[in-house]
Amino acid sequence: MSEDVLTGKKILLGVTGCIAAYKSAFLIRSLIQRGAEVKVVMTPSAAEFISPLTLATLSQNPVIINTFPVSQSNGSSLTTWHIDYALWADLMIIAPATVNTVAKIVHGFADNALTTLVTALRSPLIIAPAADVDMYENKITQENFKKLESLGYFLIYAEYGHLASGLSGSGRLADNLRIMDAAELILSGYKKDLSGKNILVTAGPTYEDIDPVRFIGNRSSGKMGYQIAKAAFLRGANVTLISGPSHENVYPEFNFIKVRSASEMKKEVVNKIKENDILIMSAAVADYKPETVSSTKIKKEEKLKSIKLIETDDILASLNKENKIVVGFALETDNELINAGRKLKSKNLNMIVLNSLKDEKSGFETDTNKVTVIHSSGDEIEFPLQSKFQIANNILTELHKIIK
Ligand code: CTP
Repeated sequence: MSEDVLTGKKILLGVTGCIAAYKSAFLIRSLIQRGAEVKVVMTPSAAEFISPLTLATLSQNPVIINTFPVSQSNGSSLTTWHIDYALWADLMIIAPATVNTVAKIVHGFADNALTTLVTALRSPLIIAPAADVDMYENKITQENFKKLESLGYFLIYAEYGHLASGLSGSGRLADNLRIMDAAELILSGYKKDLSGKNILVTAGPTYEDIDPVRFIGNRSSGKMGYQIAKAAFLRGANVTLISGPSHENVYPEFNFIKVRSASEMKKEVVNKIKENDILIMSAAVADYKPETVSSTKIKKEEKLKSIKLIETDDILASLNKENKIVVGFALETDNELINAGRKLKSKNLNMIVLNSLKDEKSGFETDTNKVTVIHSSGDEIEFPLQSKFQIANNILTELHKIIK
């Protein structure tokens, strides 16, 4: 299994003064748990919201607050610590970033330890802003976000929800998991190479109802498709995700459509393909469904012996793919490459991703997988056992070769 890309990485965490500063403690924990080394720089107002001692203890490193630190216990030279830190970092994350700090970065201010460090930084910078709704939606703030993005910084926009003020609206710091996803993406060397692309992803199983209580389903968790949707979004694409029943997390930026059966999924795919350039069909669509669905619960006394099944429509095979790039998946247990190659041709696909069930850490409900990507040109790329997020990115990179 390839190593977690966060292992051994040097991450600077900037914390600024808003109530969401308390969440930085959890972010440090998550980064450390994944093997990263973390050093924290806070603004003086952040220290009003969360104790520097908490962040120093969790990060196992002294916390810098003052531009002119009185002690040299962090090992850096007294006056050039900002250069030492800037050169040390593989990545910097500012979470939460207040509208004040965002505005200062936009204008190149270096008036406290954190902003001074940002001006000296060579590594990528992730900025996750948080504020109360009106501060967040303020026109100048919004323009500043756009400006930072156009300068190449990686913005993780705040989410909609309940705010500490009691108001509801945009401004809630993005979930730590999303910050970790972005960190993983950037540290893996990926850029926003799918900007402007409209990508439709299907994920999860479909459930074919027998009666109001029972259904025929399959073991797909949706993990692979959701990781593809996440990775595509982080790489700049507009993502529509059509999902069968799944417990995976959805980014609020997705155009998210929940479905249950194969026929519902088909209806949505046929509808949504019109406004998308690319379809990645990772859903495990049922091939059969009960011919009739009982409107009442089938009782034991009915002595049901069998259920007559009929075929569902093959969504991929029947879809009009004109001017679209279409990626399918294949799950095979024998003659894997031959069968996957056949599916690629018969369903008229640009690429097919073959899932191997041979490795115990791959397949259903796992966070890892082992796949081979087959292009319509005949090129085959076999990937080692990897996290589904890494696989998602590898699939997107193969896709990128076609759309370029
Ligand atoms: N697929 C689809 N509609 C179906 C069944 C499958 O669009 N009714 C898609 C899947 O989403 C996947 C690809 O077709 O991208 C291959 O699915 P798979 O289940 O491996 O193949 P099948 O064509 O169903 O063939 P078999 O189950 O016999 O292997």
